[in-house]
Formats: sequence, structure tokens, C-alpha cells
Amino acid sequence: MQQRILAAILLGLTVLLPALSAAAEVDEDLIAHGEYLSRAANCISCHTARGGEDFAGGRRLGTDFGTFVTPNITPDPETGIGDWTREQFRTAMHHGRRADGSPLYPACPYTSFTRISTEDIDAIHGYLQSVTAVRQENPGHNLGFPASVRPLQRIWQRLYFEAGEFEADPEQDDSWNRGAYLVRGAAHCMVCHAERGRFGEERESAVGGHVQGWYAPSLHASREAGLQNWDEDDAVALLWAGKAGDHATLGPMGDVVYDSLQHLDEDDIRAMVRYLQTLPDHEPERPRGQAGMSQARYDDMLARGSEIYENRCMDCHGRSGEGTEAAGALAGNRSVMLNDPTNVILMIRQGGYAPSTAGNPRPFGMPPFPDLDNADIAALVTYIRGNWGNTADAVSPTTVERTR
Ligand code: HEC
Ligand code: HEC
Ligand code: HEC
Repeated sequence: MQQRILAAILLGLTVLLPALSAAAEVDEDLIAHGEYLSRAANCISCHTARGGEDFAGGRRLGTDFGTFVTPNITPDPETGIGDWTREQFRTAMHHGRRADGSPLYPACPYTSFTRISTEDIDAIHGYLQSVTAVRQENPGHNLGFPASVRPLQRIWQRLYFEAGEFEADPEQDDSWNRGAYLVRGAAHCMVCHAERGRFGEERESAVGGHVQGWYAPSLHASREAGLQNWDEDDAVALLWAGKAGDHATLGPMGDVVYDSLQHLDEDDIRAMVRYLQTLPDHEPERPRGQAGMSQARYDDMLARGSEIYENRCMDCHGRSGEGTEAAGALAGNRSVMLNDPTNVILMIRQGGYAPSTAGNPRPFGMPPFPDLDNADIAALVTYIRGNWGNTADAVSPTTVERTR
């Protein structure tokens, strides 16, 4: 009798032990997979305050509707999402509803995350449950009326939000579909890059979006940020290394490369590029040249701009804007010629540099020029946008003031 029990126990163990260790392995794979996807989705960047604990929230995000303060998504049961079930987490990501059933604001890009497969959502959940729990209560959002009334988001969702996982296009190959899945899902590129309607709904056009004071040019226009006409390897380098020839990723896009894209597999970056290259290529509105300025005023601005350029910019960007070892070309640079001049103005006032990545470990930087006033910057920007073959609108001091 005893022998039979012992045999049964031994048999049980031999069956159970490998199963148990296999379960542990699967879990680790799941967590690693979830970590990778959460990199692609850049959850950490919004859900971590500057200098704060990872995923503990508290970062402030300024928008047209007011300031959002991101919540804590660590596994702390009281101040984080430790007590959310897998089902509740799926509902948040796929349907924009919190554990208590109330609607999420699209400031958390669930409008893109809805396309992530359930399997991948579960992996992200598994990963987030494995990070260090941090007890941290964050203040509420500071939103204007009526955005401050959360239940109204339900109406917004009914009008503008379509839930649904990504469906592969059988006409396209696996790489294209993988790229589309990432761009439109986890990597939520259009959340920054798409034009917004009055109620914050995304639109596809030759105009881009605004984020953190910057302009995110349209990916649906090769004269903006579109990659339609690019060499595939150059486009991969831009997204992975943050720099390709005269093109650099700056401001919030530098952060996207630094925090997210540089950590992805090359195959995934290439897949995104292949998808992006097939997006429709809309033509932006033609520039109006002097933008209503008199010829005399325009000539004055060019003269003033040219003088500042020679004193302050030429050493790095070249006599004719052709670029040097230290900095890219401004002549023929589409980022300089965008109809929306915001980024050029910000670069001059704040300076900046491409992110440091494996492919571009020591990027050169541009110093800020805080002593230039609105009229100086307007003249300088007008000069570099209308010289050396560049053809973009003149920029007035009022426009410069508006970017402050
Ligand atoms: C662009 C910034 C941004 C990104 C990227 C982002 N979030 Fe959020 N998230 C927010 C904001 C803002 C809120 C608050 C929304 C609200 O109050 O309705 C939020 C809310 C949440 C909530 C609800 C928490 C609660 O207590 O109500 C969860 C869960 C969440 N995010 C998970 C994620 C995950 C997982 C990712 C990555 C896959 C992610 N977020 C990426 C900005 C972001
Ligand atoms: C947080 C907002 C944000 C997100 C998310 C974002 N971008 Fe950007 N992107 C920007 C901004 C702002 C710029 C303009 C600054 C610049 O040129 O680097 C930009 C510029 C670009 C450019 C043009 C660079 C050049 O030199 O012409 C490309 C291409 C691009 N983004 C692709 C992407 C792709 C692909 C994704 C998704 C994987 C993405 N972006 C996600 C904000 C964002
Ligand atoms: C010390 C060298 C240096 C000086 C001086 C300098 N820049 Fe730059 N500039 C850079 C670097 C580096 C970048 C980042 C892009 C790159 O690596 O090419 C940059 C980027 C820019 C961009 C953004 C280009 C793009 O692709 O989006 C503009 C516009 C610009 N500079 C204009 C100016 C103007 C105008 C001045 C004079 C007020 C100036 N720069 C002075 C080094 C410099």
C-alpha cells in the first residue's frame, strides 16, 4: 500500500516538475515579450515623471484641453493597477474603459492600442505586473470645461472611436502587415503625426499634429515627414539611429527614438518603413511666399537674417546652408520648409540635438540662442526658408511670439 502511494507521489512529481518549470519559462518569455511591446508603445515615457520612479506616473502632459497628469501603472494595489484583473486591463487598452467602468481620455492612446492583439495586451499586462510596485498617489488632471467632465468621453468614444484589433491585409506580405500592426497599434505614430479635428479626432491629410509645443509633420505627405520616396535603408537609419544624412530626429521625435525605436529589432523597424512607404502621398498647400509682406519689408528681413546667419550659424551649417561636419544642411531640407515653421523657431531658441543611439553614439548639438528676439528670429527664419533654393513662407515676429 505504502509503496503504491510512494510510487504515485513519485509519478506525480515526475509529471508535475517539468510542467511547473515549463510554466515558469513561459512566464519569463511572456514578460520579455511584454517588455518589448511596452517599449514599442513607450508606456514608460508618459507614465514616468522626470526623475521619478518607472511607471509610477505623475508626468504632466499639456494639451489643448488642459493638463493631464499620468496615473501610476505599477502593480501597487492601492495607488497603481495591481488589483486590476487581466480582463480589466484588456478592456482599458481595447475599449478605453477603466477598472470602474468610466471612460479613459484618449490622452492615453487606447485609440491605437485597440489594434494590439489580445495576446500581446496580455503580455504587456504580465510585464507591468512584474515591475517594481511603487506607492505613489498622483494629483488629478487639470482640464477646462467641458473636457473635465469624464462621462462626456463616452459620447466622444461613440462618435470618434472604433474599437477593434488589427486585421492583416491578405494582399500584403508579412513584413508590411507587421509594420502596419506596429505603426497603427503599439507605436501609435499617428497619435502625434495626424491632423486633429475640433474635438481631437485624428484625420488623414497632408497636415500633421501638435505635441508638446512642436509640430509633428504628416506621415501622409513626402514633403512633410512621409517616407514614401526614401531609400529603405536610410529610412531605417532615421528611425533606428535617429539620424540619416541631413535628416535628424529632434524634440519629441528624438525622445521617441531614444526611449522606444532604438530598442526594437531591425526587422520591426524595416517592417514599419515598408508600411509607411505605401501610405498615400498627399500634397501640402503651396507656400504663399512673402505671406502678405511688402517687398521692402521682405528685403529688410532678408538683409537682417543674412547678417545674423553669417555671425551665428554659418560656421556649423555652411556659407550656403550646405551643412558641414558639425551640422546638417538647411538648403533643401524639408524640415526647414514645412508650412508650419514651429520646429525651426524652437530649434533656434532652445537648441537641441539628435538622440544618442548605437547607430549615432555622439550626436553633435546645436546651442540655444536665447538672446535673439522675435524680430531677429523672424528675419533669420525667413532668410533660411527663402534662400539657397528653399521656397517656404516668410515668418512674422507675431508667429514667432505664438510659439512661446
Ligand atoms: C501619450 C502618453 C501615454 C502613453 C504613451 C501611454 N499612456 Fe497610459 N495614460 C496616459 C494618460 C494621460 C492617462 C490618464 C487618462 C485618463 O485619466 O483617462 C493614462 C491612463 C492609463 C491607464 C488607466 C490607469 C488608471 O488608473 O485609470 C492605464 C492602465 C494605462 N494608461 C496604461 C498604459 C499602457 C500599458 C501604455 C503602453 C502600452 C500606456 N498607458 C501608454 C498617457 C499615456
Ligand atoms: C510624441 C509624438 C511623436 C510620436 C509618438 C512619433 N513622432 Fe515622429 N515626429 C514627431 C515630431 C514632433 C517630429 C518633428 C521633429 C523632427 O523632425 O524630428 C517628428 C518627425 C518625424 C519624422 C521626420 C523626420 C525628418 O527629419 O524628416 C518621421 C519620419 C517620423 N517622425 C516618423 C515617426 C514614426 C514612424 C513614428 C512611430 C513609430 C513616430 N514618428 C512617432 C513626433 C512624434
Ligand atoms: C555648433 C554648431 C551649430 C550652430 C552654431 C548652429 N547649429 Fe543649427 N544645428 C546644429 C546641429 C548639430 C543640429 C541637429 C541636426 C543635425 O545633426 O544636423 C542643428 C539643427 C538645426 C535645425 C533643424 C534642422 C532639421 O533637420 O530639422 C535648424 C533649422 C537649425 N539648426 C538652424 C540653425 C540656425 C538658424 C543657426 C544660427 C542661429 C544655427 N542652426 C546654429 C548645429 C549648429
